[in-house]
Amino acid sequence: MGFISMNLVTLLYLVASVCFIQALKGLSSPATARRGNAFGMAGMAIAALTTLALIAKLQAQAAHGGFGLALVALGIVVGGAIGAYLAKTVEMTKMPELVAAMHSLIGLAAVCIAVAAVSEPHAFGIAAPGEPLPLGNRIELFIGTFVGAITFSGSVIAFGKLAGKYKFRLFQGAPVVFAGQHVLNLVLAVLMVGLGLAFVFAGGVEPAWPPFIAMAALAFVLGVLIIIPIGGADMPVVVSMLNSYSGWAAAGIGFSLNNAMLIIAGSLVGSSGAILSYIMCKAMNRSFFNVILGGFGGDASAAAAGGAAAAQRPVKSGSADDAAFLMSNAESVIIVPGYGLAVARAQHALKELVTKLTEHGVNVRYAIHPVAGRMPGHMNVLLAEAEVPYDQVFEMEDINGDFGQADVALILGANDVVNPAAKDPKSPIAGMPILEAFKAKTVIVNKRSMASGYAGLDNELFYMDKTMMVFGDAKKIIEDMVKAAE
Ligand code: TAP
Repeated sequence: MGFISMNLVTLLYLVASVCFIQALKGLSSPATARRGNAFGMAGMAIAALTTLALIAKLQAQAAHGGFGLALVALGIVVGGAIGAYLAKTVEMTKMPELVAAMHSLIGLAAVCIAVAAVSEPHAFGIAAPGEPLPLGNRIELFIGTFVGAITFSGSVIAFGKLAGKYKFRLFQGAPVVFAGQHVLNLVLAVLMVGLGLAFVFAGGVEPAWPPFIAMAALAFVLGVLIIIPIGGADMPVVVSMLNSYSGWAAAGIGFSLNNAMLIIAGSLVGSSGAILSYIMCKAMNRSFFNVILGGFGGDASAAAAGGAAAAQRPVKSGSADDAAFLMSNAESVIIVPGYGLAVARAQHALKELVTKLTEHGVNVRYAIHPVAGRMPGHMNVLLAEAEVPYDQVFEMEDINGDFGQADVALILGANDVVNPAAKDPKSPIAGMPILEAFKAKTVIVNKRSMASGYAGLDNELFYMDKTMMVFGDAKKIIEDMVKAAE
């Protein structure tokens, strides 16, 4: 491997970058997502192997040899094995917390690389032995360190909140708020920048460690403080934002190390994460700052109040058999999948139901809301897992006009995404675009109780004359529908 030239390294990094761009392009549609993933894997393999070859070359050139290559190879084998195991075993509804855990590692990696580069700049080719770190590199390493540190500790808190199973108070979904929180954050941020500048502008060959370490420590604390006031349910937007930060941290370090691969891959992650956060906020009709400064995501009391009010009002309810009868005799049925369908893992049973209905000559389509579930593309991934044909799956803007002509809208474990309250300017979800299931001739809703959804709001759709509630776990109910539709 010692033969690899720097030109070949640059060329291979360029090929890997093109693969990453193709990966993002492929992931923009369920039909091309597999191909996108294949490009991503190929790009990462090329980047990792090229880096290994580069390390081998540098190690061969170094007078003292060393274990660099063996250590990196060991890291790839151990890290790759853990990653493969997690990816294989993680449940779909646990994906957001897995992603948060991964981001924390990217942040930590950025900090570790920055510390190594500050202490041994000549090993990275940034400065000749005995010479100080150039000013530009000190600025880049300062930025990479604090962004990486905030990403690390913020992602750890996001992971805990998403997991929702740890007793530790900061890992609870409910926001942690106290008086003067925003002022404290501001003061700490100003202090952190001040210490960073003290590191950047310190003279001498030896790096100014005290301000550097203090700056990094403050950034770790700030990461925690920024995320704790945000409710657990807003975490997907936060995770996407931290994803963006981790990309920028990697890009910043890439500039210091003069590594084109890190700059390109980091910028792709940084910008795509930022765009995704924006899309999510838009689909929930909330501003980015509203999410960051704490919003309805953690308001358990609102949810409880909604649930209590809901318990008082009468609704029409029916059985899975009644629902199957209505659908078998319909001409067209539109299915709205939501978070509850993912929780129940009922996608395979649902596909079976649709096959049965189609055999009865019913035109069945799926309507996907952009923020149904708890992560971007959640419902698309869920249906793809059951190998639902893409031509049956429609995005909100393509199917909303058809609910008025549909005989039945079948709502499965969805709530907020079909809540007509969004049309009321006084509602907390006012302006959020919804799937207009309320326009269908008959509405069938399956959920376990009258409990509210993510936004903690009651749903008028459940009380309409044309609505029939079918209570129970989605998987059990759909399996009963399949039997009844024989
Ligand atoms: P939700 O409004 O959260 O409603 C899900 C419903 O599923 C609940 O009302 C629940 O009622 C029911 N459910 C839970 N487990 C079930 C089971 N095993 N069987 C049957 N039903 C079950 O879901 P949605 O309509 O998909 O809306 C998503 C919400 O999440 C939106 O408010 C959105 O803004 C928010 N959000 C989404 C994202 C992304 S990117 N997707 C990110 C952040 C926030 P019961 O308890 O009565 O069963």
